Amino acid sequence: MTRPRILSGMRPTGPLHIGHLTGALDNWVRLMDTYECFFAIVDWHALTTDYADPKDVRENVLEVATDWLAAGLDPTRSTLFVQSLVPEHAELHLLLSMIVPVPWLERVPSYKEQQTQLAEKDLSTYGFLGYPLLQSADIMIYKAHAVPVGEDQAPHVELTREVVRRFNHFYGPVFPEPKTLLTEVPRVPGTDGRKMSKSYGNAVFLKDPPEVVRQKIKPMVTDPARKRRTDPGNPDICPVFDLHKAFSPKESQEWAAQGCRTAGIGCLDCKGRLLDHLLQRLEGIHARRPEFAARPDTVWDILQAGSHRAREVARATMDEVRSAMKIAYPIR
Ligand code: TRP
Ligand code: SF4
Repeated sequence: MTRPRILSGMRPTGPLHIGHLTGALDNWVRLMDTYECFFAIVDWHALTTDYADPKDVRENVLEVATDWLAAGLDPTRSTLFVQSLVPEHAELHLLLSMIVPVPWLERVPSYKEQQTQLAEKDLSTYGFLGYPLLQSADIMIYKAHAVPVGEDQAPHVELTREVVRRFNHFYGPVFPEPKTLLTEVPRVPGTDGRKMSKSYGNAVFLKDPPEVVRQKIKPMVTDPARKRRTDPGNPDICPVFDLHKAFSPKESQEWAAQGCRTAGIGCLDCKGRLLDHLLQRLEGIHARRPEFAARPDTVWDILQAGSHRAREVARATMDEVRSAMKIAYPIR
C-alpha cells in the first residue's frame, strides 16, 4: 500500500527555537504516521538571501538536522535530506524557469515584503526572484500530493499549483497538483514580545538546557500596565499568555487568565506554571539531543542516506520530465 507523499522544507538559518516546534515540527512528527514524508534542509534557499555571507550555512545544516532528530523526526520513517545534495532540483528549477512568466514571480507577496524587511541586503537578484520557483521544483520533483506549511507559505504552494497546470498543459500530465496542508500556527512571541527570531536575540532554542530556558522566561515582557503585584492585568495583550496558549493545557490557561485579571496571581507565578509545561514539553528533546549533538558524523550519515534516497526519486522524475520536454536522447 502506498501512502500519499508530502514534502516540506526549512532553511538552515540557525538553531531552531520553540516557534519551529509549534509551527512545523510537532505537525511533521505526526504526519510521519500517515504520509510518505520528505523533509528538506533547503540550503540553496538560504543562499538566496545570505549569498554575501554564507559562512554559517554548513554549520546551520548540521544544527537543523540535529534539532530535527531531537524533535523526533525519524530517519527510518521519513527521508531527511539536503537540497543541494539532490542537484536535480536545480535542473527542474531551470526547466520550470523556461515556462514561468516573470510577473507570476513578481506578484508573490513575500517577494516585495522580504525586499523591504531585509533592506540591508541587495535582493534584486535573479536567484531571489526565483525563490518560490525553486520551492516549486522542491515540491514537484517528488510529485508531492500535499505540502504542510504555515499561512505565510500558502502563496508559494498556490504558485506551484499554477506551474504544475502550465507544465502539464504544455507537455502532458507529469505532475499532480499539490494541496496545501495548512498548519494552524499559534503566535509564539519571543521574550521581548516581538516575533520569536534568532536575529532579535529573543528566542528560546530547542538546544537550551532547562536552566537557560528558565533564565530566559523569568524576565520575559508581560502586560506593561501590570506594574505592581496588586494591579490586575490583561492576558490578551501579554506575550507570556501567548506562550501559555501554545504550550499549556486549557486548565492552566484558564488559571492564568483568571488570576491575571483579578490580580490573584503574580507574573512570576504565571511564568512558573508556563515553565512547568514548557519544560515538560521539551523533556524528550532534552533527552534525545545530546546524543546527536555529540555525534555529528552520525547526523551527516543520516543526511547522506536520506539525500541518496531522495535523489533516486528525483532522478526518476527528471527522466520523465526530459522525455515530456523532448530532450531525452539515446546518449547521456
Ligand atoms: N520557503 C520555505 C520557508 O521559508 C522553505 C521551503 C523551501 C519549503 N522549499 C520548500 C517549504 C518546499 C515547503 C516545501 O519556510
Ligand atoms: Fe502576563 Fe501572566 Fe503577568 Fe498576566 S499574570 S500579565 S498573563 S505574565
